[in-house]
Amino acid sequence: MKLGVNIDHVATLRQARYAGSLHLPNAEPLLLPAAAACELAGATGITIHLRADRRHIQDQDAFELRSAIRTKLNLEMGNTPEILAIAVRLRPDEVCLVPENRQEITTEGGLDAAGQEAALMPTIRALHAAGIRVSLFVEPAPVQVEAASRLGADMVELHTGAFANAAGLAADAELDRIRAAAIQAHGLGLQVNAGHGINYENVAQLHSVPHLEELNIGHSIVSRALFTGMERAVKEMLAAMARPHPARMFIPA
Ligand code: PXP
Repeated sequence: MKLGVNIDHVATLRQARYAGSLHLPNAEPLLLPAAAACELAGATGITIHLRADRRHIQDQDAFELRSAIRTKLNLEMGNTPEILAIAVRLRPDEVCLVPENRQEITTEGGLDAAGQEAALMPTIRALHAAGIRVSLFVEPAPVQVEAASRLGADMVELHTGAFANAAGLAADAELDRIRAAAIQAHGLGLQVNAGHGINYENVAQLHSVPHLEELNIGHSIVSRALFTGMERAVKEMLAAMARPHPARMFIPA
């Protein structure tokens, strides 16, 4: 499994102090060294979400990262004409289309690919015409995976938020949905990625999901980086990804 690190929250911290004065030389923390540390630690990509309200990543960040990063740039974006025009100029390696709602703290659900086919089709075509691979961030549900395939997406990113927030049997049930969606997506020729709410503990359980190529992880890595530094936080996540979950022991009643 490969790791894309979402560095939005490095920008969140900068914006908390410098949103109105980004031109100042002391506006920190800087995104470029954060991305470089992720790459040095072995991340295979850098992910950013350019939101309509620009609450963290700014347009200039995206363009500076585009020229600085050495791995690949994955741009998460809502399906709006404004952000699409920027994406076509930016030329990230990949775009992940996500639902976006101004009130949310983070991306809440998956994209309703099945319900929005007509609106998504021209965007996906425009991104493909610009040479950008396209992923759809969808719930692990058969109708959404089918729609992603019909729409000609290259990848799906399966939303792991419900799995991450569940415990015990409920988490197992969510994992079953993710597994089934991964098998379905792979069978349809889609690359299978996953993301949202993945942390150093629950990541091991994703070993039981077949065909998983890449994880996109942000909050837990940036949180750990406050204590360990970014490079070590990414290395520790890569180590956690390489360690399968020990098989559950059967305890007779
Ligand atoms: N993948 C997508 C599509 C997202 O929107 C996000 C959150 O920005 C993530 C992954 C990363 O989620 P987290 O910050 O919970 O690791």
